[in-house]
Amino acid sequence: MLDVIARRRMVRSYRREPVSAELIDAVISAAFDAPSAGNTRSLELLVLTETGVADYWDTTLSGERRRGFPWPGLLDAPVLLLPYVDPARYVSRYAEPDKARTGLGVGTEAWTVPYWWVDGGAAVENMLLAANGLSLAGCFFGQFDHEAAVRERFGVPAQLRAIGTVAIGHPDLANDRSSRSTARPKRSVEELTHRGRW
Ligand SMILES: Cc1cc2nc3c(=O)[nH]c(=O)nc-3n(C[C@H](O)[C@H](O)[C@H](O)COP(=O)(O)O)c2cc1C
Repeated sequence: MLDVIARRRMVRSYRREPVSAELIDAVISAAFDAPSAGNTRSLELLVLTETGVADYWDTTLSGERRRGFPWPGLLDAPVLLLPYVDPARYVSRYAEPDKARTGLGVGTEAWTVPYWWVDGGAAVENMLLAANGLSLAGCFFGQFDHEAAVRERFGVPAQLRAIGTVAIGHPDLANDRSSRSTARPKRSVEELTHRGRW
């Protein structure tokens, strides 16, 4: 397992080969195995394959931007998994008797650390690790200002918030191009770890 964690990299180029339903289901299950604050479990997934994938890219990457898109092989990923979370569910869960003393049941603005984003991130990492562990690859990317258009196109309920999009598929490593972010020097574990005192 530690090996899968160490080897995981975002892959932005995929072969067109479909992913079996069994593997897709295994990655989906991994998302729902992620920890969840207060066991709130607000996570829901929109799963897109085939025409759904084409519709996603038509919605988020218009003709002109598509021509200049630096990762054309990302559009070949046969599966897109879109995790959504529901902040209101956390507020009602934390208003329950066993959590009420936290004060978080009054509204989303009371949350210094909004756990819906934390849970969403854990689900994303579980999906990426599951994909890599199953000899697939994955890439997480933002929806940015397309969240509303994606919601509209696929009928996502208004109260849910998108974490982003996870592409999965069989990697086409020969044509993969990493993002400019990858070139940033990695800060060392020693530099970032403060044992006993900062
Ligand atoms: C919260 C978050 C947002 C990210 N957004 C994007 C994105 O929009 N597009 C993209 O190509 N990669 C995105 N990435 C991938 C990062 O660029 C990548 O994880 C980082 O460069 C380290 O590379 P590695 O994951 O392959 O080790 C994102 C990663 C995280 C965790």
